[in-house]
Amino acid sequence: MPNLIILKKKIKRFNKIISVSGDKSLSIRWVLFASLADGVSFARNLLMSEDVMASIKAIKKLGIRVNFNKNTCAVYGKGIDGYDIKKNLTLDAKNSGTLGRLIMGLLINTPKPINLKGDKSLSKRDFKRITDPLSKFGANFKLKNTKNLPLTIYGSKNLKPIKYFENKGSAQCKTAVIFGGMRTNGTTFIKAKKSRNHTELLCKHLKLPINVKSKKNFDEIRIKKVKKISTLNYKIPSDISSSAFFMVLTVLSRNSKLTIKNVNINPSRVGIITILKKMGVNITLNNQKIYKGENIANIKIISPKEIKAINCPTSLNSGAIDEFLIIFLVAAKAKGISNFKNLEELNQKESPRLKWGAKILNMMGVKTILTKNSIKIFGNPDLKINKKITIKNYLKDHRVFMTSVIAALSFGGEWHISDKDSIKTSFPNFLKIIKDLKK
Ligand code: S3P
Repeated sequence: MPNLIILKKKIKRFNKIISVSGDKSLSIRWVLFASLADGVSFARNLLMSEDVMASIKAIKKLGIRVNFNKNTCAVYGKGIDGYDIKKNLTLDAKNSGTLGRLIMGLLINTPKPINLKGDKSLSKRDFKRITDPLSKFGANFKLKNTKNLPLTIYGSKNLKPIKYFENKGSAQCKTAVIFGGMRTNGTTFIKAKKSRNHTELLCKHLKLPINVKSKKNFDEIRIKKVKKISTLNYKIPSDISSSAFFMVLTVLSRNSKLTIKNVNINPSRVGIITILKKMGVNITLNNQKIYKGENIANIKIISPKEIKAINCPTSLNSGAIDEFLIIFLVAAKAKGISNFKNLEELNQKESPRLKWGAKILNMMGVKTILTKNSIKIFGNPDLKINKKITIKNYLKDHRVFMTSVIAALSFGGEWHISDKDSIKTSFPNFLKIIKDLKK
């Protein structure tokens, strides 16, 4: 079974400097913005993963030329109205919620129908959260079972601006509506619970007509119709969500140190850093700089002598939303009981991750109390595993696979982990970095 990996040994102490691949959220957003720009945009360090390749394939199907040369990707934008919509056009978002949901906002002004499909995991996820607000602009949608892919977009030339309250803390919903607003005459208003703000920062960098007022728990966003997008040359910084696996591996290994270079530490993404610091981990941010509106730094992390349990503030949920599976492993080794609440969004991911978190921990012999939206984890600083654990995730969630690998390397036991290929969606060189850490 080539897709199975068997791990039987804990990793030995390490002291290394590594780089992880480009940020997935920024890579997909760059592809989409570049596809509408007036001319050629170049990106270096674009994440070469299946989610990003699906984005490139989608814009190619919309008539946009794309070219790769060594580490550089060129997208030949044809302007804001440059998409060529063929008859019976079907776009395939594969495993990517970000691509599937974001691109819909850009397509609501095209009266020719466009079909959107995805893989098994994406076809189980909620798309009503996108079609509901986009319908208010005046577009129409036909969905399977009223909320799932495949769906058909019936855009309109008579869009009206909307007022929308985004209350899930979902950057995908927020961005789909910002993109809808970019296509619509008048001012679209969004009151959005805090979530990652890469789209807003890119809009500002590109001098698009966006206005963002930051309030305590919400942002108020106003966006007007966009007439022109300039080309965007971008060196994509590294992904904190990919870095998170190695940060946690360091925390759970004895006497180890790790520096991860050039990571995007956008304040809306650093929940993992705040949480680990609260749990007693020594993390420093070096060489901090600002690049095209995004904060970047080298993250240095040292394994702690003792891990403290955490009562995780819900205000950190959105900023760590992709990291909770891996954070649960830290809680498993903490002294005391950790609490994570209001995490219903975690069950809306590539697989129901809150349930998966509990499942992995229980297999490891860690006690949990799970509800629909919360988990209590009974930590054990002396946790060691001496048995065989088999992980088979039928939705092939990349983060379930990578979390299981980190658990195996941190706690021991004999792990049989399926679906190695799932890492291709977000982090194809994950196992290569592990190999380098073992050297
Ligand atoms: C993303 C937003 C988050 C995150 C996903 C990427 C984005 O999803 O989980 O991996 O790039 O906008 P939600 O917006 O559904 O929370």
